Amino acid sequence: MEEKVINAALLGLGTVGTGVYKVLKGQEEEMTTKIGCKVKIRKILVRNLEKAAAKVDDPAMLTNSWEEIKQDPSIDIVIELIGGIEPARTYILDALHAGKHVVTANKDLIAVHGKELLDAAKASHVDLLFEAAVAGGIPIIRPLKQCLAGNHMSEVMGIVNGTTNFILTKMSQDNMEFKDALALATKLGYAEADPTADIDGLDAGRKVAILASVAFNSRVVFDDVYIEGITKISAKDIRYAKEMGCAIKLLGVARNTDTGVEAYVCPMLIPNDHPLATVNDSYNAVFVHGDAVEDAMFFGRGAGELPTASAVVGDIFDIVRNIVANCCGRIGCTCYKQLPVKRMEDTYNRYFLRLHVEDRCGVLAEMTEVFAKYHVSIAQIIQRDSQSQDDHLAEVVVITAKVREGDFKTAVQELSNKSSVKRISKTIRVYGK
Ligand code: HSE
Repeated sequence: MEEKVINAALLGLGTVGTGVYKVLKGQEEEMTTKIGCKVKIRKILVRNLEKAAAKVDDPAMLTNSWEEIKQDPSIDIVIELIGGIEPARTYILDALHAGKHVVTANKDLIAVHGKELLDAAKASHVDLLFEAAVAGGIPIIRPLKQCLAGNHMSEVMGIVNGTTNFILTKMSQDNMEFKDALALATKLGYAEADPTADIDGLDAGRKVAILASVAFNSRVVFDDVYIEGITKISAKDIRYAKEMGCAIKLLGVARNTDTGVEAYVCPMLIPNDHPLATVNDSYNAVFVHGDAVEDAMFFGRGAGELPTASAVVGDIFDIVRNIVANCCGRIGCTCYKQLPVKRMEDTYNRYFLRLHVEDRCGVLAEMTEVFAKYHVSIAQIIQRDSQSQDDHLAEVVVITAKVREGDFKTAVQELSNKSSVKRISKTIRVYGK
């Protein structure tokens, strides 16, 4: 009997594209037994045909014409791995309109245009899958949409950027300053030549938008997510955090509260007894809480050639199984609610505050008076003499109880206007339920 084959086209042959090509090759022999038919890459869209030729068995499969792929009726699945908004958005919409299924790893696109793309997939009764867009090789989109569908999820949070986790780990374990740890990350290939999207939290912000949308069945877009990066974190902050029983991690947090969705990315202190505090180096982890499952955690490689390809190939196989079983488009957009997204000022957190004050009687009383006015309660406090002999300053580090962010900021503003307060050196949120 002739073996059934489903044809696919790959858009992009960079790190992830090359990984997908390799993983599919490694699955070739058992594919038919595993998923009911063979999937073959027939065409690969690349910019530079010559450069790409060395990476594939048959250079005839390479093309630099999207039209050639779009108009080829034998291609059932398009795998978009070029990234960015355009031309990826146009190619995906073209493919969906032409009745082709799409797999993408493109978080920039899904975090902004997810609804438009999923609506187009629904209209054409095809699948659009994007497991690799969040946390690379870690399965999280499919678990949320399928295995955990019987829950009302109240929280999905985690470490979803490997570059910044590597940098913060080095700062913590080797007492390095941010710029030295970034230089090391660049040297070792963890950070890109332009690390902005990682260190400023934008990459994690896109992932939080996607996670919140999927977990809470309500669309959250990139612009809804409050974002702060890690560039202002110092080795000293990390040392104080350790003294207070915490690690500092760049966390992406999405919460479904009675008053709306909270969605933010920022460096946070996290108590050492939380499982995320020990997720180090370039590893990612996502922690979810649902009313039925309670806590569940997903850990692994959030980036890289083969881990990301693992998620992409999982999506391809899922589509192939759907084609074989004639049940495509079964799980599309799951955003059937319209929940409001809260302003950051209206969220409640604990805060770490490091400041320099005059070292004299009554200064702490002045501080606590301001705190009391804005409902800020102190949970922990450390005071150190300033390093300098002659400035008569003390460094005070406080961790507050939970307080509305807007109130905390007003209190800090009022403190900074006091003559006894010489410098507000840092405010960092503290993770806690
Ligand atoms: N640059 C990301 C990271 C991987 O460092 O985790 C791709 O999203």
